[in-house]
Amino acid sequence: MCGIVAYFGNKPAQPILIEGLKRLEYRGYDSAGIALLENGTFQVTKSPGRISNLEEMLAGRHSPATLGIGHTRWATHGRPNQVNAHPHVDCTGKIAVVHNGIIENYATLKKWLLKEGCTFLSETDTEVVANLIGYFYQRNQNRNGQLAPHGCNRFEWAVQQALSEIYGTYGLAILCADCPNVLIGAKKGSPLILGVGKNEFLIASDAAAIVKHTTQAIYLADGEMVIVDSGGFQTKTLSNEQVQKELKEIEISLDQIELEGFRHYMEKEIAEQPTALETCLNGRVDLKNGRIILGGISNYLRELTRAKRIILTACGTAWHAALVGEFLFEQLARIPAEVEYASEFRYRNPILEEGTVVIAISQSGETADTLAAVEQAKERGALVLGIVNVVGSSIARLTDAGVYLRVGPEIGVASTKAFTAQVAVLAMLAIELGRRRHLSTDTVQNLLQELTSIPQKIKRILRQSEAIRQIADANKDRENWLFLGRGFNYPVALEGALKLKEISYIHAEGLPAAEMKHGPIALITDKMPAVFIATRCSQYEKIIGNIEEVRARGGKTIVVATEGDEQIKPYADYLIPIPETCEPLQPMLTVVPLQMLAYHAAVLRGHDVDKPRNLAKSVTVE
Ligand code: AGP
Repeated sequence: MCGIVAYFGNKPAQPILIEGLKRLEYRGYDSAGIALLENGTFQVTKSPGRISNLEEMLAGRHSPATLGIGHTRWATHGRPNQVNAHPHVDCTGKIAVVHNGIIENYATLKKWLLKEGCTFLSETDTEVVANLIGYFYQRNQNRNGQLAPHGCNRFEWAVQQALSEIYGTYGLAILCADCPNVLIGAKKGSPLILGVGKNEFLIASDAAAIVKHTTQAIYLADGEMVIVDSGGFQTKTLSNEQVQKELKEIEISLDQIELEGFRHYMEKEIAEQPTALETCLNGRVDLKNGRIILGGISNYLRELTRAKRIILTACGTAWHAALVGEFLFEQLARIPAEVEYASEFRYRNPILEEGTVVIAISQSGETADTLAAVEQAKERGALVLGIVNVVGSSIARLTDAGVYLRVGPEIGVASTKAFTAQVAVLAMLAIELGRRRHLSTDTVQNLLQELTSIPQKIKRILRQSEAIRQIADANKDRENWLFLGRGFNYPVALEGALKLKEISYIHAEGLPAAEMKHGPIALITDKMPAVFIATRCSQYEKIIGNIEEVRARGGKTIVVATEGDEQIKPYADYLIPIPETCEPLQPMLTVVPLQMLAYHAAVLRGHDVDKPRNLAKSVTVE
């Protein structure tokens, strides 16, 4: 995915665009650019690499322009280089565009535009959008020969004509060189927000780029466009019908998106987990009455309680949380559950019989595969709920109902506080359904008490950062690691492997510990750290046996164990003790040392922890 930002107001646009792009850099960072409209021409500056490269190119330039658009890219079509960087200008120089999304039919459109005499500089689908708008703008008629209606705004009309020919997804900000006081935004399948300030407007992919200037925003829906001019703004459909949109308060604050003294957002977000979880649980765990209150899905609790099957669908870290959810629903609520990769579910023509509830989990609420899986499930008539962090995101708006994580913006590409919060929400839901079905009052009360103790227990684990850094330092040059767990900690082994892979670029594999003897144990050497989650649990003795199998073959073991467990010590080359909790809630604790291990390994290996290579925070493309 990419980050787009646009400004129209009474201040110089350049510094505002750059600052906004920096707040969106986590969305993509292989190239960046801005276009300023000055005296009827576009001043376009683009650079490969990070936004700091773009800043260097702009050093010393202070444009008076108060209208401009900017973009930070995660390449989908065309290599990450200067030519393919956005903004893209059409071949007549009249239309400038920044885009987040994918134009599925860009090749067909490009072929036709080339035949019509348009020229192209880049390999991107976005340049096709610019040329298509420019084509209709110049000729003042559409492909069927219909002229632009008299008196209409030709720029706006050309945008509507072009977007009506496009299949795919877009969040767009568009300028026209002949319209120095007009900024157009349009949305379909990628997020787009209009920030409404005092005599100034910003359009952006998410609130992080807006909140410094205003907390009043309009969230565009798919198929809507916004036209901003010196008189204000109006929202319309692509078929030119006016749409009334209400102004909403942006819920994140600036300090939530600042580093606040941490070296990286990931470090900050790992450290935030106690307070983030407290916020996630706050008002939802009713200890007095021994129940859970999840207002967002209260109308569906009856249907959920009677569900014959729950399908959880997600990607990446959210999928690992979903796997914990599968175990929680089966063990606490005794409801059959299964987890599906969204990318597989969406193409598998799934059978969703009567009584199936689908739960989509997504931090960003914009992951293309998960969004498509939600659409599939809705088309098949299933009740679809969402567990999402970003308020107003596409998945949050598409599902029938849902639960927000409430952990604030997660900016580090490697998901941390969102994972623990996703597990917390799934645990709350499973406990509440269990209470309504068969769990005893005492069991529920004990679970709720334990749940509310988790944030403080995480705080105790965070104090081991230096000890964990030393373990990472001792093993940072090992190029292959194994992560092993059983039961509720098997998904945590997968998550620990993903964390290490995605930010330290070390190859890591997560496995159910018992699977070792079915092949992977052939890999064991003293150069391959085996990370075991061996906390006190129902399979404790079994996992001790797995550790012995590895050590008997010279393997080095890093063991996450329960505080005070003396029995485990002889089996651990490196030991990370964590507080005890009941088995179903252990993932919220056992994941924390693995997050820290990955973080320290990445820092020690000199990588950019928050913007790991080839990745983006939210994958809004297939
Ligand atoms: C997690 O660390 C990764 N950044 C990635 O796997 C992520 O979890 C996945 O892309 C899903 O994102 P979502 O939760 O925003 O849908």
